[in-house]
Amino acid sequence: MAVVIRTANWHSERSAIRSIRDAVFVREQKVPADLEWDTLEESARHFLVFKDGEAIGTGRLTADGKIGRLALIKSARGLGYGAKLLETICEHAQTLGHQRVYLHAQQQAQGFYSRAGFIVKGDIFSEANIPHIRMVRDLDFSSG
Ligand SMILES: CC(C)(COP(=O)(O)OP(=O)(O)OC[C@H]1O[C@@H](n2cnc3c(N)ncnc32)[C@H](O)[C@@H]1OP(=O)(O)O)[C@@H](O)C(=O)NCCC(=O)NCCS
Repeated sequence: MAVVIRTANWHSERSAIRSIRDAVFVREQKVPADLEWDTLEESARHFLVFKDGEAIGTGRLTADGKIGRLALIKSARGLGYGAKLLETICEHAQTLGHQRVYLHAQQQAQGFYSRAGFIVKGDIFSEANIPHIRMVRDLDFSSG
């Protein structure tokens, strides 16, 4: 099955991004919609994962090097697409000149990010009523 991961245009592809994030964060994880959609959407670089032409995952990178809103529809999880999406975003961040990326990981997903080379920085805090932790990764693909 053909899987494509690429940058997405917020203006022309926002309905695909919205439908994934509405399903995963707003309906499944009960994140309030006014917290889910913020002022950074316009300026962020968005990514979409397509499987056989259907949008199944998304994520974004903001100008300060923060990765966020990483989500796969339920039926597409545990198949390695999340890890590939995260890697694609990190590679993209490096091409933009970022030496380091960071994220606010949901505590339940900490293991997922650790496997991708992210390291915990700081203590657990609450965001949208979900425990989170700041994690960072230095980007250096040249030595690997
Ligand atoms: C978190 C998420 C993006 C991961 O994507 P995925 O495609 O399911 O993950 P992958 O299949 O690429 O998993 C890669 C590895 O991480 C592990 N993993 C996946 N989700 C995990 C989680 N929530 N906690 C711990 N480990 C996890 C997998 O077991 C796998 O390990 P392996 O390589 O040893 O088999 C996806 O599960 C998701 O959308 N979850 C709901 C939304 C969410 O919680 N987003 C994160 C917000 S911080």
